[in-house]
Amino acid sequence: MPIDYSEKIPNNVDLAGDRKLQRALESWQPNFLNWWKTMGPAVPTEDVYLRTAVAVGREGWAHFDHVAMEEYRWGVFLAERNADRRIAFGEQKGEPVWQQVPGEYRADLQRLIVIQGDTEPASVEQQRRLGETAPSLYDLRNLFQVNVEEGRHLWAMVYLLHAFFGRNGREEAEALLQRNSGDLDSPRILGAFNEETPDWLSFYMFTYFTDRDGKYQLGTLKESAFDPLSRTCEFMLKEEAHHMFVGTTGVDRVVARSAELMREHDTEDIAPHGGIPLDVIQKYINFHYSVSLDLFGSEQSTNAANYFTAGLKGRWQEERRKDDHVLTEDSAHIQLVRDGELTSDEVPALLALNNDLRTEYISDCQSGLKRWNRVLEQGGVDQRLTLPHVGFNRDVGLFSEHHITPKGDLVGADAWEANRDRWLPTEADKTHVRSLMRPVYEPGKIAGWIAPPSHGINDKPFEYEYVHFP
Ligand SMILES: [Fe+2]
Ligand SMILES: [Fe+2]
Repeated sequence: MPIDYSEKIPNNVDLAGDRKLQRALESWQPNFLNWWKTMGPAVPTEDVYLRTAVAVGREGWAHFDHVAMEEYRWGVFLAERNADRRIAFGEQKGEPVWQQVPGEYRADLQRLIVIQGDTEPASVEQQRRLGETAPSLYDLRNLFQVNVEEGRHLWAMVYLLHAFFGRNGREEAEALLQRNSGDLDSPRILGAFNEETPDWLSFYMFTYFTDRDGKYQLGTLKESAFDPLSRTCEFMLKEEAHHMFVGTTGVDRVVARSAELMREHDTEDIAPHGGIPLDVIQKYINFHYSVSLDLFGSEQSTNAANYFTAGLKGRWQEERRKDDHVLTEDSAHIQLVRDGELTSDEVPALLALNNDLRTEYISDCQSGLKRWNRVLEQGGVDQRLTLPHVGFNRDVGLFSEHHITPKGDLVGADAWEANRDRWLPTEADKTHVRSLMRPVYEPGKIAGWIAPPSHGINDKPFEYEYVHFP
């Protein structure tokens, strides 16, 4: 089904064929636009060079043009339906997937969709003021691209709530606009989405580590037996890939510039030269990685086991796994602390699914570190960046009761606190990073703390006027 842009709400789900649903979504639309105006990007622009989805197939799904942001065509796009698709895991493995929500899973599915849906507008709120200090027009454009797509992801989840969960679903869709990131009275559901994104280093770390958690969560929902959810997530993952790119290459460029300044001035202390010292970058990695690990929940979870057995949520790349996809006979290892030592335990595989997903995520994160260390090597710098231990600085799960150093040593609370400033960004670090954040809006110019990108967007040069101001 092609995307119909003549409709008020662009879609490829034949919204016009379901008047009731169409009316319900059309009455949610002004609330969304109002939210975008008050909580979306704070910098006024005339138009931005954005990509818009035009088809969901393998080729040509994206179209690039200068668009006034409030006229962006947010809509409902699902990946194409595979009529033969069958449930790939759990106790109903092999049966046809569901086009409607089975009554017994209604509450659980709604909860999963609400939690995913809540993160989408949250990140737009967290990034609201970043445009005021963009290091280049290219970066400003990328920020806005991420923002409009997170807005669209909200649409994706709201469509499911409206189309399949009745009155309850519509109420949840309203609530998604009422909670706000960092709001004391009605915060967003997950901790990492109430943290600030006050500077661009945080933004790149967020898009690298926290958006990547999103990628893995979407990957599990893409496996869902509830086919509309699966198809929604499949298309969201395509958009998500760009967010990840912004994070990966953003950190690349900060690291490259820091290496350059270190060589030029023959010192690690590049702060006085307008750079971000490597130890500060390391602390930002430590922080964003550890809060993102918390998003995977407890290592052992009966909820996760039940979701899997019921077919609601699979594993990362479920169909590529070489086992029975039911897991009732399998076991897994989880790391934990016992008698003052880090050790591991064998537990039923079904209970350890959060740990399984987190393990996939961690090895993906490692690829970023490898990349950034290659940038350092090529930049002629001997220092290296690392991922801290999985138990470092955790608030959720088995490690949250313990004090573990980035290297993985178990220490007392006092020793941990005494070293906190060496491991996590201090007020002075944040103040320094913030002091570097000055907008550079001239085409082809770039701030001094970051290197320019190696390519522009959609084959345009870096000097292209990606954003026009009023
Ligand atoms: Fe998203
Ligand atoms: Fe994202």
